[in-house]
Amino acid sequence: MNIVTVKNDMQLSDVASSQILKAIENKPDLVLGIATGGTPAGTYQQLVKKVQLKSVDLSNIKTVNLDEYVGLARDHEESYWHYLHEHLYGPLELSPDQAIIPNGLNKKLEEECVRYEQAIQQVGGVDLQILGVGRNGHIGFNEPGTSLDSKTHVVELTDSTRQANARFFEDPSEVPTRAITVGISTIMKSRSILLLASGEEKAAAVSALLSGKIDKNWPVTILNEHPDVTLVVTEDAKAEEQGHAG
Ligand code: F6R
Repeated sequence: MNIVTVKNDMQLSDVASSQILKAIENKPDLVLGIATGGTPAGTYQQLVKKVQLKSVDLSNIKTVNLDEYVGLARDHEESYWHYLHEHLYGPLELSPDQAIIPNGLNKKLEEECVRYEQAIQQVGGVDLQILGVGRNGHIGFNEPGTSLDSKTHVVELTDSTRQANARFFEDPSEVPTRAITVGISTIMKSRSILLLASGEEKAAAVSALLSGKIDKNWPVTILNEHPDVTLVVTEDAKAEEQGHAG
């Protein structure tokens, strides 16, 4: 694993956005896996600026979202469809055809998961997957204990994840209880992974990862088996002593 330790969010966003830009310049039809949430927001902002500054053509990229809440309408401010359009598609004027995103309103959720897995395969899989990490070690919404062989599936969000995400909602009771997430085995098929971790509340998860052991109760640790991972981590997220997991 390639580890880049940075002082703060600003530096994290700068390093991560440059890596994404480089990947697009190397492969103009890049399939970019999108994580949402607080951590990558600054990265997308920086990416937009850099793309505009260099007039990079993004018309051939595709994006694949990691997850979506079940039951939120697309225009709900906290849906990940909305996040994607607010952070990337709006400012970069990308075509909606370029976005592959789970439909959390599909009444037939199991069929939606199968469709989504096929949609990822149809674009040839993800070239560069951006990941954040939950304080409990989740990646996507693969909560602790998720099978390492999992494909796209519906998850019940843990209380810890719902509480962490309550900051984005006016009323904490509005946080959906379920989501569709790309599974761990699908994430592991991405050709390269850019994992972003910021803030001391991520220190336990980062410590578990850096212990080098694979532990189902810390899903992020599976990334130790991936051949091409770059971790961009703030100093405070790396502060915990090693040897937490196991
Ligand atoms: C979101 C996602 C989640 C987040 C994680 C960290 O698409 O996949 O795994 O990356 O919950 O969220 P933040 O960055 O808000 O701390």
